[in-house]
Amino acid sequence: MFTLAARRLAWLISLLAFNTAAVSQSNVSDAVLTVGIDLLDAGHILHFLDIVDAFGHVSVRNPDNASQFLMSFSLAPALATSQSIVTYEIDNATSLQLTFNSSVTGAAVPSGFLERFIHSEIYKAFPTVQGVVHSHTTEILPFAGAGVPLTAQMHTAGSLGSLGTPIFDTNKLNTTILPENQPHDLLIRNTVLGDALARTFSADSQVVLMKGHGMAVRGFSVRDAVFRSFYTRQDATVQLQARLLGGHNTGLTAREAMDAENTTESDSLLGRAWQLWVAQVDNAGLYVNDLRMS
Ligand SMILES: *[C@@H]1O[C@H](CO)[C@@H](O)[C@H](O)[C@H]1NC(C)=O
Ligand SMILES: *[C@@H]1O[C@H](CO)[C@@H](O)[C@H](O)[C@H]1NC(C)=O
Ligand SMILES: *[C@@H]1O[C@H](CO)[C@@H](O)[C@H](O)[C@H]1NC(C)=O
Ligand SMILES: *[C@@H]1O[C@H](CO)[C@@H](O)[C@H](O)[C@H]1NC(C)=O
Ligand SMILES: *[C@@H]1O[C@H](CO)[C@@H](O)[C@H](O)[C@H]1NC(C)=O
Ligand SMILES: *[C@@H]1O[C@H](CO)[C@@H](O)[C@H](O)[C@H]1NC(C)=O
Repeated sequence: MFTLAARRLAWLISLLAFNTAAVSQSNVSDAVLTVGIDLLDAGHILHFLDIVDAFGHVSVRNPDNASQFLMSFSLAPALATSQSIVTYEIDNATSLQLTFNSSVTGAAVPSGFLERFIHSEIYKAFPTVQGVVHSHTTEILPFAGAGVPLTAQMHTAGSLGSLGTPIFDTNKLNTTILPENQPHDLLIRNTVLGDALARTFSADSQVVLMKGHGMAVRGFSVRDAVFRSFYTRQDATVQLQARLLGGHNTGLTAREAMDAENTTESDSLLGRAWQLWVAQVDNAGLYVNDLRMS
């Protein structure tokens, strides 16, 4: 009888064997391979850090074509591999092909996330955004529910800003955006709802809270979107505890938030966090980044 470790080793060897084929068959550029590696790591890290569970997703803009983005098809982020990544149109979130297997196109591509319009509409609205995360992180939900915006409480969360994160509430949408005959299940199921969510972002904050649902986070890279997601959750814990202690103006000033964001999201500091998180997912035994192994 095989031990779990032996089975896993055999599986990894088989993945390595077809991986060279996968990458050469897809004929992707170095830039796409690089963001593909980061995208798989991002999904695995978000799960390892408990920011997503079975649900939630992360995407990256196609570095070779600003009108497209890459995201896994409908699958728990922890389980994604190179053969889960799909190239989508930003225009309408329609799938084009598996990014790393160009023989799988059109209707042969497995179904995408219902809420991929969160990503497509954020990329459409903000040309400088390169990475997006959507999650249902528990710690932020009380703030969205109570109508209390998050503000930066610490230097690593400077991207939350000092004025308060916008809160998106599907119950406040008019019937042009959310008609009576459509499901009121809080999901962002089409371009119209995605557009309404994207318009909620403010210049001050890189995060929108979604009442009864979760959050949407934009980043200047997929790594940055993960970094901001992680420290948004940490910030929610700090802000709640500071309020319980009776503090009111517990957050950073506008100047502090802006300068701290610039410092902590620099390549060297963000890179230090990324290096740790990649080492953690590599040692966890659950996640497979077959692109990085090639
Ligand atoms: C690419 O997709 C084709 C069609 O489904 C499949 O036969 C092939 O094994 C896939 N290649 C890889 C590397 O998974
Ligand atoms: C692979 O991509 C390169 C550069 O875009 C192109 O010149 C070449 O024809 C492609 N090869 C195949 C087999 O598609
Ligand atoms: C870029 O993507 C758009 C949308 O998918 C597509 O219409 C266009 O042909 C692509 N451009 C190139 C150079 O591949
Ligand atoms: C989606 O958008 C692309 C780019 O504008 C377009 O070529 C394509 O026809 C659209 N697909 C659908 C199903 O609307
Ligand atoms: C519905 O809301 C949108 C966005 O706020 C607005 O542009 C539109 O005019 C509104 N429609 C009606 C019928 O109020
Ligand atoms: C932002 O950080 C960089 C170092 O990463 C520094 O060189 C630059 O002066 C900072 N800009 C501001 C406005 O603080």
